Amino acid sequence: MEPSRKQTFYGRRQSRPLKDSQKNLLNTLYQNIKLDLENLPSSFPSDVLFEIGFGSGENLIHQAQKYPNILCIGCEPFINGVAALLNKIEEEKIENIKIFADDARLLLYALPNQLISKAFILFPDPWPKKRHHKRRIISMETLSLLRQKMQNGGQLTIATDHLGYLEWILEIVDSEDFKTLFEIKSLPSMDRPSTEEIPVTRYEKKALENRPGAFLIFKAI
Ligand SMILES: C[S@@+](CC[C@H](N)C(=O)[O-])C[C@H]1O[C@@H](n2cnc3c(N)ncnc32)[C@H](O)[C@@H]1O
Repeated sequence: MEPSRKQTFYGRRQSRPLKDSQKNLLNTLYQNIKLDLENLPSSFPSDVLFEIGFGSGENLIHQAQKYPNILCIGCEPFINGVAALLNKIEEEKIENIKIFADDARLLLYALPNQLISKAFILFPDPWPKKRHHKRRIISMETLSLLRQKMQNGGQLTIATDHLGYLEWILEIVDSEDFKTLFEIKSLPSMDRPSTEEIPVTRYEKKALENRPGAFLIFKAI
């Protein structure tokens, strides 16, 4: 069942007012690279990378430069983050990024199955209060949906700096439902992927001042 917009995204959509240069990018560059649910492309390239909650876009930029032949789709409802990414796309002249500025799950529902070869959920909002746990983006429901859209053998990377969220994720990973969809490639006790593989994002930098981030890597089966 498709979730309604209101039920799914709980974070902020905007903080500081946008500068004129950012508004200008939203009116120009963004119009050419945004994904619109009402008007999705009729076909996609064979390799698609997908990031849920790209923040300011450090990982998306890194991946797009590393894999210039792969289409990199980033989802982020926080418009200041979208504006920050647009800036970098323009500066670096990157041509293989598309942006969905809304809840990633809405786009996932609309995408063809077996499309995504690499997926990232880096430092998702931990929603630490118990009564907010249901807001967490990582749930069996989201992961099942994501798996449906991933190619067999595709790779999913999740990172968190929040111990409670890590425990929540590990509980899901331990479930029979999860084990039918993904196999574990590496768990958080192992080393962080190299910065060549995944750069340090803004949130990770903040997190690392206090405690190490945990990276979990899975293979879609
Ligand atoms: C803590 S930030 C981490 C950002 C970035 N991944 C990083 O490591 O710097 C989590 C981000 O996920 C975004 N987010 C939350 N729910 C989302 C959803 N349903 N779909 C897409 N993005 C979402 C938030 O707006 C926020 O920017």
